[in-house]
Amino acid sequence: MMKTVIYPVVLLLVTAGTSLPVEAAGDAERGKQLYALCAACHGPNAEGIPALNAPANAGQDPWYMTRQLKNFRAGIRGAHPDDTFGAQMRPMAMVLATDAQIADVVAYITSLDLPDPPQTVDGDVELGKQAYETCIPCHGEFGEGAQSLDAPRLSNQHDWYIVRQLENFKAGIRGGHQNDIYGAQMRIMSQMLESDERIRGVAAYIATLEYRPGVE
Ligand code: HEC
Ligand code: HEC
Repeated sequence: MMKTVIYPVVLLLVTAGTSLPVEAAGDAERGKQLYALCAACHGPNAEGIPALNAPANAGQDPWYMTRQLKNFRAGIRGAHPDDTFGAQMRPMAMVLATDAQIADVVAYITSLDLPDPPQTVDGDVELGKQAYETCIPCHGEFGEGAQSLDAPRLSNQHDWYIVRQLENFKAGIRGGHQNDIYGAQMRIMSQMLESDERIRGVAAYIATLEYRPGVE
């Protein structure tokens, strides 16, 4: 008797907490095996390896990583002729042949600790702080990201990678594919960073943002 009452209540709670379509939950143990391939470039703790141009993935939002892996696999990201580093990542995403494999590897990466990459970009932090005002509505005051706006975490990411993505968006190397709905939004925003100085400044400012537990 109890069971038949509790079950619908639990279901209701589960659905109430999720406003977006839920991806099938991945298996972190299976994901760990798949991650052995990724570790070669992204590092054993998914902390990123600057010498290999590979960003940090640990601490990144699982829904965002899932989308990027599917986009790389489908050629929505990384297929532009000038996307040198995206082209290195594309074949790796293609190894994850099924959506279940993507879910598994993302589940494993999500279990790893948030990295704290060193600051490397020489930029005007004050100028960057001003420029970052326009980013806050989507990426949040602390660079925590917002799933409801499809905008990923920016804090705790390598600053040189942030610079490269902003340059790529601005040049249409990323976000220019006709099916890149979310990249297209970011492409428009990148155009507001008119100079290289502003791009470096905003990346240097983002590098000063600290993770706030409980914020997204
Ligand atoms: C040969 C090196 C290499 C391997 C192996 C590799 N990656 Fe990557 N990955 C990269 C590079 C380089 C980038 C950055 C692409 C760019 O600059 O746009 C990247 C980007 C990514 C991104 C996008 C990050 C973001 O913030 O948008 C994700 C997610 C990712 N990789 C996951 C994986 C996973 C999961 C695996 C294992 C299946 C993997 N990578 C294996 C080199 C690699
Ligand atoms: C209208 C909402 C919006 C605003 C405002 C916005 N972004 Fe974004 N941004 C996005 C979305 C959506 C994505 C994810 C694109 C994708 O899925 O490929 C993104 C992605 C990014 C990425 C790529 C992250 C990664 O891991 O590869 C960077 C870097 C970034 N934004 C920086 C900025 C900066 C800096 C600003 C302010 C100048 C800004 N964004 C303003 C929506 C926004």
